[in-house]
Amino acid sequence: MATTEEGPSRRTFLSRGCLQHSIYEWLTLVATLFVPLVVGILTVVLPLQQQNLSERQNENSKTIAINNRLQDMELLHDQQKQLILNTFEKDLTSLLFRYSTVSSGNDTYSDGDDEEEHDDDDNDDERISLVIRTKALYALRQLDPPRKILLIQLLIDSGVKNRIDLSHADFSLSVFPPGSFYDQLQFVNVIARNMKIQRISLYQSNFSYSILDGSSFNGSNCSHSDFSYASLQRTDWANTDVSQVMFNHSNLSGANITPQQLTTAFSLQGAILPNGSTALI
Ligand SMILES: *[C@@H]1O[C@H](CO)[C@@H](O)[C@H](O)[C@H]1NC(C)=O
Ligand SMILES: *[C@@H]1O[C@H](CO)[C@@H](O)[C@H](O)[C@H]1NC(C)=O
Ligand SMILES: *[C@@H]1O[C@H](CO)[C@@H](O)[C@H](O)[C@H]1NC(C)=O
Ligand SMILES: *[C@@H]1O[C@H](CO)[C@@H](O)[C@H](O)[C@H]1NC(C)=O
Ligand SMILES: *[C@@H]1O[C@H](CO)[C@@H](O)[C@H](O)[C@H]1NC(C)=O
Ligand SMILES: *[C@@H]1O[C@H](CO)[C@@H](O)[C@H](O)[C@H]1NC(C)=O
Ligand SMILES: *[C@@H]1O[C@H](CO)[C@@H](O)[C@H](O)[C@H]1NC(C)=O
Repeated sequence: MATTEEGPSRRTFLSRGCLQHSIYEWLTLVATLFVPLVVGILTVVLPLQQQNLSERQNENSKTIAINNRLQDMELLHDQQKQLILNTFEKDLTSLLFRYSTVSSGNDTYSDGDDEEEHDDDDNDDERISLVIRTKALYALRQLDPPRKILLIQLLIDSGVKNRIDLSHADFSLSVFPPGSFYDQLQFVNVIARNMKIQRISLYQSNFSYSILDGSSFNGSNCSHSDFSYASLQRTDWANTDVSQVMFNHSNLSGANITPQQLTTAFSLQGAILPNGSTALI
């Protein structure tokens, strides 16, 4: 009994009296309160954090799932595009055999022996060209820029490129493989914005009536090519050979082409020059 009495009385004395001991007591108080307090806080905070964590984990796994799904879809789209190109190649190959006249760099080969028969042949050939054109335009609408170039390459390799009218097809953002030869390329009346056709041999090519805004011909050889009536706004002609090029009525507004280059052109009649003036000759 005496000890229990002594205890509180000593504590009260200590807390009232000496400062050192009151600090000790405060510390004990804090220490005794600390554990329940922390436990209390933790019991509230931990589940919240865990919830947060599991939510974040959930979100993470959701993002991963979405990313996987996107990758799957991309792969699927890629496969579909390849399938479209493969189908076009197959169709083209089987249609090539139906041409009755031999194709060459020229439009149609003709020796003029039997005129009536040749008229029929020409009509048939025209129909085949129309079928190829339809299939090509259909494929081009669905293909990505790299495969569009592959389709053009198929037409060139099979020797029918110049028979097929690809007017209004869209080749925007296409990148031609630098260093290759596309001499006498027929790119008439097409849309090809922001195309990269750099370090390409384009001798005697025809880009007339096409929309080529923002495209780059950097380092290419365009000599003797035709850009009449083309929209060439902000086009890049750095290191491009434009000797004997026809720029009649084209719009070179904002184009990167030097006055020295322009003097080598064959004709600039009616063209809007980079400085905004209209050329008279
Ligand atoms: C195209 O035709 C002309 C004559 O019409 C001929 O001289 C030339 O060799 C032909 N070009 C090709 C690639 O067949
Ligand atoms: C380029 O194509 C246009 C349209 O088909 C044609 O009128 C023009 O004569 C061609 N240019 C050359 C140099 O053959
Ligand atoms: C043109 O291409 C060359 C290299 O092929 C590059 O060094 C240069 O910066 C390019 N110029 C422009 C204006 O893009
Ligand atoms: C561009 O090509 C033409 C025809 O092949 C050639 O005569 C000319 O020298 C070439 N230009 C340059 C700068 O190589
Ligand atoms: C040529 O391009 C400029 C600049 O984009 C534009 O304002 C102008 O209308 C164009 N001219 C023609 C005839 O298209
Ligand atoms: C615009 O550029 C052309 C070709 O470089 C030049 O002949 C003409 O004098 C220039 N016009 C103006 C107003 O600077
Ligand atoms: C371009 O203009 C020149 C004259 O400056 C002319 O000889 C040529 O036939 C014109 N070409 C086109 C496609 O209009």
